[in-house]
Amino acid sequence: MSALTGIKKPVETEMAEFEVFFSRTMRSDIPLLNIILNYILRRKGKQMRPLLVFLTARLNGEIVESTYIAATCIELLHTASLVHDDVVDDAHERRGSLSINALWNSKIAVLLGDYLLSTGMHICVEKSRYDMLEIISEAVKSMAEGELLQLQKARKLNIKEEDYYKIIISKTAALLSACTACGATSVSEDAETIQLMKDFGENIGIAFQIRDDILDYEGTGLTGKTVGNDIKEKKITLPLIHALEQSANSKKRHIFNIVRNKKKTKAEINEVISFVMDYGGLEYAEIKMNQYRDKALAILDSYPDSEVKESLKKFVFYTTSRDK
Ligand code: IPE
Ligand code: IPE
Ligand code: MG
Ligand code: MG
Repeated sequence: MSALTGIKKPVETEMAEFEVFFSRTMRSDIPLLNIILNYILRRKGKQMRPLLVFLTARLNGEIVESTYIAATCIELLHTASLVHDDVVDDAHERRGSLSINALWNSKIAVLLGDYLLSTGMHICVEKSRYDMLEIISEAVKSMAEGELLQLQKARKLNIKEEDYYKIIISKTAALLSACTACGATSVSEDAETIQLMKDFGENIGIAFQIRDDILDYEGTGLTGKTVGNDIKEKKITLPLIHALEQSANSKKRHIFNIVRNKKKTKAEINEVISFVMDYGGLEYAEIKMNQYRDKALAILDSYPDSEVKESLKKFVFYTTSRDK
């Protein structure tokens, strides 16, 4: 049994029903679109975001229809962001298969991403859940800003640790925080509770992206994504930022020169990976990641013990220990 299966237990039936909701939205009369939607459906991800929506809703009350609306909308937006992300990152692998841009092309991937994005938002409009639309559209805006800031930093290679957090809060934590905010909003009107859950999701999101960035170096082989793609794309993430800060100027220049170069050999990418390991970049990122994990856990501790609280705790630990 995978760790996630256990974590899902308290909302098992809801997650099964969510799958039906979600696949229903992934249909179209346009044959090309339908083929691609099916391709995506057959390669589902971990579905951590809908799971987080349901668990936070249960933590604060009883799951209702709008909880499903939020879960479906957010997974659609997440899928859209991955399709666009692979165009931006020129990534050819996703979920262990070819990415949409690799299998079809970038034009199709951009338009498909738009389709998924608008379908997601439209669900909230259709059901008149403007409260959720407000939370979710804010996250979408922030995701685009984060991606652009990341591109801006990659052009100049002038990223500092502070910038890194700014980027990941925008591009990743915003959506996880929308999950917990929507989960809470679906069952509670208490502004303080919703804010608390928002913070909970943001901390999970930051830890989630640091883990993702560590995995780009560690290469467990389970992510279904190409190891070293961040370096290839001049993306300087926390492990490398720290390693660079620890190294002498001549070494720093040498590594910068490799990263700056558009065409990198496998050996050069491996050299950067070894550099990051030798200078303690992965250990440092892990320490920082665990600080955010602990902030999320501290928020959870303000709740009385329950099965769902236990699941959320495991969810947080899974986020920071996952291999995929
Ligand atoms: C990947 O998210 C994108 C990031 C924010 C790092 P997931 O790792 O949750 O992707 P899937 O849905 O399981 O493939
Ligand atoms: C996260 O960025 C993706 C989004 C927030 C859309 P990455 O580019 O780091 O994610 P992966 O590693 O490709 O999934
Ligand atoms: Mg990216
Ligand atoms: Mg990427």
